[in-house]
Amino acid sequence: MKNKEKVKRITGVIAAVILFCVAIAILIFLFRKGDVINTPENPTGQVTESSDLSSPTSTRQYTPIEGLNRYLPRKNNPQNVTLTADKDKVINDMFNSTVDNDATVYISFPDSSVACYENDKFNLNTGIFHEKHNYIATVTIISDSIIKSGYLLADRDGTIYMNEIKKSTMKHDVSLRIINRDNPITQDEANDTTGLIQLKDKNYVLDNRDDLFILPHVKQALEELLAAADKQDASLKMHVASAYRTYDSQKQSFDYWVNRRVTQENMTYAQAYEYTAGRVAIPGCSEHHNGLTLDVVGYGYMMDESSKGAPYAIWLKNNSYKYGFTVRYEEGKEQYTKITLYEPWHLRYVGLPTAFYLYNENLCMEEFYQKLLTEKLIDFTYDNETYWYIYAKNDNIYIDENVMETVQYSRIASNIEGYVVLCKVK
Ligand code: DAL
Ligand code: ZN
Repeated sequence: MKNKEKVKRITGVIAAVILFCVAIAILIFLFRKGDVINTPENPTGQVTESSDLSSPTSTRQYTPIEGLNRYLPRKNNPQNVTLTADKDKVINDMFNSTVDNDATVYISFPDSSVACYENDKFNLNTGIFHEKHNYIATVTIISDSIIKSGYLLADRDGTIYMNEIKKSTMKHDVSLRIINRDNPITQDEANDTTGLIQLKDKNYVLDNRDDLFILPHVKQALEELLAAADKQDASLKMHVASAYRTYDSQKQSFDYWVNRRVTQENMTYAQAYEYTAGRVAIPGCSEHHNGLTLDVVGYGYMMDESSKGAPYAIWLKNNSYKYGFTVRYEEGKEQYTKITLYEPWHLRYVGLPTAFYLYNENLCMEEFYQKLLTEKLIDFTYDNETYWYIYAKNDNIYIDENVMETVQYSRIASNIEGYVVLCKVK
């Protein structure tokens, strides 16, 4: 009997505990459900945690506001604002004083009904949100110490900040690096034959030459150019007269011409040296060292003044940019290039849209860099897309590839500090 009572009591206690737990669980469930129902901004009931964002408030939780997705960028109607850090204190406040005094900040608000910048302050409407792909603006900060491009976000208090962006891991290359008399490359750099392939096609390699080497993507562009030229005017008959050159082959050619002018043209060594340097680059100063440069000549033409006005020269001037080439030594650019001979045959591959930009603006590469170093940012349109050239003094580059795609990233020159970054703005 005693034992029976004991069992009864224990069973009663267990039942009471179970009932209590069930009641608590039901209460928690109802409470949470009510929470969601009572959050009108939250159509999905999901809470978005901003764990991937670095900001003073990044440990907080956020909910997106109902219907915000309809405010995603309207590409054709952005409102752009440019602010200079030294003039606009708000910029430093906004980025917690992380912006340098020389910074320029480019902000693009995709929809000014969500957020805009007016009368020295940010105006946020209902569009305060904090979800990874929802943002109030894109922003690019350019200063001597850093380039940073990403999204502007706002939390529910109206605090504005940038999303976290990793440092760019893309390696700079030589695609836009100029080589000229003021900016020579070393003998080792000139002799670097990495990646070069031979040009063999008898249609454009004459006399069974086996000494023409170039980078593969330039070969492809060359063949597209030649096919287009042939289709347009079969009488142009262009061939490749020169491609990659080692330091020694440039030296051989340079020394030959200096010597010839001293011995046969009655020049002093200094005169012969200067005259030759205007036509054959000093060893280490030729773009033929970079594997991106070709001499393309119409059949029967000499690579001298007699090519001026030749049909092939006119065709290259008007069309070579379409295939990514720039005619490097154009007439009227001698003061910048220091090459005094107009060389309509000398094509330097820079790729598109850079070749288009140089052609359209009638700029040689030296002029382009003068402009870039002055303006720091150059924007242009190509094929209905917006591109930016940005001057980067160092490699402290943070670009969110969702905002801008890096198309080219290149050293500028041996004696010019910094890099050029070409970005396609998304
Ligand atoms: N003829 C050009 C300048 C060169 O030698 O590279
Ligand atoms: Zn050349």
